[in-house]
Amino acid sequence: MARQVQVTKNGTSAVLALAQWFERQKRVLPWRSEPTLYRVWVSEIMLQQTQVVTVRPFFERFMERFPTVEALAGAGEDAVVEAWAGLGYYSRARNLHRGARAIVEAGGFPQTREAWLEVPGVGPYTAGAIASIALGKPEPILDGNVERVLSRVLMLGRGPRFKLRLWRWAGLLVRLAHRSGASPSVFNQALMELGALVCSPKSPDCASCPVATHCMARQNGVQEQYPPKKPPKQWIALEEQRHVWLDTATRRWLIEKQPQGRWRAGLWDFLEEAPGAGMARRLGEVVTRHVVTRHKITRTTQIWALSRSACADALGAHAQSESRRWVDSNDLGVAGSSAYKRTSQAVLELVR
Ligand code: ADE
Repeated sequence: MARQVQVTKNGTSAVLALAQWFERQKRVLPWRSEPTLYRVWVSEIMLQQTQVVTVRPFFERFMERFPTVEALAGAGEDAVVEAWAGLGYYSRARNLHRGARAIVEAGGFPQTREAWLEVPGVGPYTAGAIASIALGKPEPILDGNVERVLSRVLMLGRGPRFKLRLWRWAGLLVRLAHRSGASPSVFNQALMELGALVCSPKSPDCASCPVATHCMARQNGVQEQYPPKKPPKQWIALEEQRHVWLDTATRRWLIEKQPQGRWRAGLWDFLEEAPGAGMARRLGEVVTRHVVTRHKITRTTQIWALSRSACADALGAHAQSESRRWVDSNDLGVAGSSAYKRTSQAVLELVR
């Protein structure tokens, strides 16, 4: 409680200093120039697992292709996933598409944080970002950058309900900023920007920090020790097998789209099925390793040179299929799972 009183007393000057710093130093980013609900929503979904420099060109291309929520809702899911190719975490594209359809059906965008939480793919961080940036509401945000800034300024250690305490502080501060005349949009983006540009994980640039004089970790010379490290992850080891059905004459291989309801739904990959006996000659195998969230995946990919007759059969059987496709071995632009892309490179090197 004593800490809260102190923060409230110093808080007004701190939040205003931060907001003013943002106005002077902010990066020019495409979603900042015209922060409509649609643009802020799309940008925040893209920024969920991807860095600003990567998102930037994707965002601009996506906006050209789907300039409105109606355009996005009217597109097919495949077109949306295709436009997402290269950004990864494709469930974001599918959620965006489902969300666009729900918004158009409802006759307009949600107008509160709570209503945004109902939109697929929108969690507490994204709902807070949209409500504050596009709607000007004093709702908190908390991502990795903000977590680091708050944990340092307030010298909050990990411990019971660390995240909950940070969320409460983020809420208290954005409301204080709002009451003090700084817009929630500016204040929340200022927190993120400070974390991205100044209050970096290693060697924070405290000399350039607008709130250095308010930072408790800095006063104690322990800024690099905050936030304290998370306990190590519990890894889950997974093994999987795939088969490359290779037509050596055309150097094309067969890929299949993962069905709905399965992991990597809608993404292309090598086949799980091996060619039947006598259909192919085994050229070799590659073993690749991937890390996805808590999973350490070891993938063994067998490479099969299909016989001429098997190629003709496979081509005949699969040419019409929506879920299987022959691709050129250079065609890596397809919306494939990250494991597929990584394995493709290894396979290409082997069959080159
Ligand atoms: N990261 C997440 N949201 C962001 C935003 N709106 N601006 C910059 N970086 C971000």
